[in-house]
Amino acid sequence: MVRPRGYAALSALLGWLLCGCEAEPETWAELDHEERVAYMGEVVVPAMREIFQSHDPERYASFSCQTCHGDDASEVDYAMPNALTPLPLEGTLEAADAIDPDEAAFMLDEVFPKMVELLGYEKYNKVSAPDGFRCVGCHRVAE
Ligand code: HEC
Ligand code: HEC
Repeated sequence: MVRPRGYAALSALLGWLLCGCEAEPETWAELDHEERVAYMGEVVVPAMREIFQSHDPERYASFSCQTCHGDDASEVDYAMPNALTPLPLEGTLEAADAIDPDEAAFMLDEVFPKMVELLGYEKYNKVSAPDGFRCVGCHRVAE
């Protein structure tokens, strides 16, 4: 069989595409800015849109980057937290409950665990994971 130049590279590429696997999936922490934009658009937004819209189709009828990042998302270069309702570091859940018990419960049961999973972070725990991901990974900290 006559093999055109580049055959090996091409077949390696095809093998990779057909197998659908990547050598080593990178974690969120390892992604550069451009890769993070892509991951947010391809993975985070679809997964989160689904849970927000199942919870409240009207309130979250339009779900986009801005829902979490705020209207000035690109001006602040997608730094988080940015725009969401401030919550205190101590007594976070009690404060959230006082603001809106339905949304607070939805956040705790669905949004927060999903975001932890999508980012590959640990859940915050005062003792065992003090640097873990918290509600204030998305929400501003109340003064
Ligand atoms: C469900 C909420 C949510 C949505 C929707 C969302 N993001 Fe994010 N995004 C986050 C959180 C939370 C972080 C911070 C992750 C961390 O702590 O490392 C983040 C971080 C980022 C970062 C990294 C910022 C940095 O400083 O490294 C970029 C870039 C980004 N998002 C872009 C986007 C884009 C573009 C979209 C829309 C396609 C989008 N995000 C939609 C929650 C969201
Ligand atoms: C992935 C990002 C993300 C995380 C993590 C998150 N939230 Fe939210 N939260 C949101 C978004 C988006 C909204 C809806 C904002 C809107 O309606 O425009 C919201 C709304 C709320 C509201 C209603 C606030 C209001 O202004 O009406 C409360 C209360 C709340 N969150 C509490 C919490 C608590 C408590 C946690 C942690 C258990 C948490 N959130 C974690 C993204 C997040």
